[in-house]
Amino acid sequence: MVEDIQEVLISREQLKESAKKLGERISLDYAGKSVVLIGVLKGGVVFFADLIREITIPLDMDFISVSSYGHSTRSSGVVRIIKDIDIDIMGKHVLIVEDLVDSGLTLRYLKDLFKGRGPADVKCCTALDKPSRREVDIEIEYKGIIIPDKFVVGYGLDYGGKYRNLPDVCVLHPSKYEIY
Ligand code: IMP
Ligand code: MG
Repeated sequence: MVEDIQEVLISREQLKESAKKLGERISLDYAGKSVVLIGVLKGGVVFFADLIREITIPLDMDFISVSSYGHSTRSSGVVRIIKDIDIDIMGKHVLIVEDLVDSGLTLRYLKDLFKGRGPADVKCCTALDKPSRREVDIEIEYKGIIIPDKFVVGYGLDYGGKYRNLPDVCVLHPSKYEIY
C-alpha cells in the first residue's frame, strides 16, 4: 500500500492539530445546546473519531451512509442513501461531519435532507476542503484544511475502496489512477 503513494500531502500531525482546533471551536459554539454529530460513512469515520475526542461538551452521534462516486474519482451528482440515521433530530442542532467537500453536491443533498426533518439548525464540519472544485454554492461552517485540486486518499478517504487506513492524506502515483 505505501508503495503506491507518491506524496504525503497532509501529515497525521497536521490533521490532529486541525481536529483539535475544530473541536475547541465546536465546544464553545455549542455549549449548552443539544448537538447531534452525524458522521458521513465511510470516509468520515477517521476524522469523526478524532473530532469527537476534542469536543468537551455532551453530544449525540449518528451515522449516514451515502454513495455518489462508485469507483470513479468524480461525483456523479446523484446521491443515494445506503444507511440513514436512526435518531430523531427534531429541534436538535445538527452538525454533519465530512471527510472532504469537493463539488459540494453531497453536502448540499445532506443539508437539505436534514433540514427537512425539523432540526434547530444544520451545519457542517469537514476535515478537508477542495474549494477549486466546487459546483454548488454551499456554506461550510467548520473547515479543517484547504487542499489543492488533487485526488487524495488516506485518513478515511478511498480510491476504489482502498487506502482508507493510511494515517496521512496522500496522493497516489499517477499510474494508480484511471483518470481524474
Ligand atoms: P462531493 O459531493 O463532490 O463534494 O464529494 C464528496 C465526497 O466525495 C467526499 O466526502 C469524499 O468521500 C469523496 N471525494 C471527493 N474528493 C475525493 C478525493 O480526492 N479522494 C477521495 N474521495 C473524494
Ligand atoms: Mg464522503
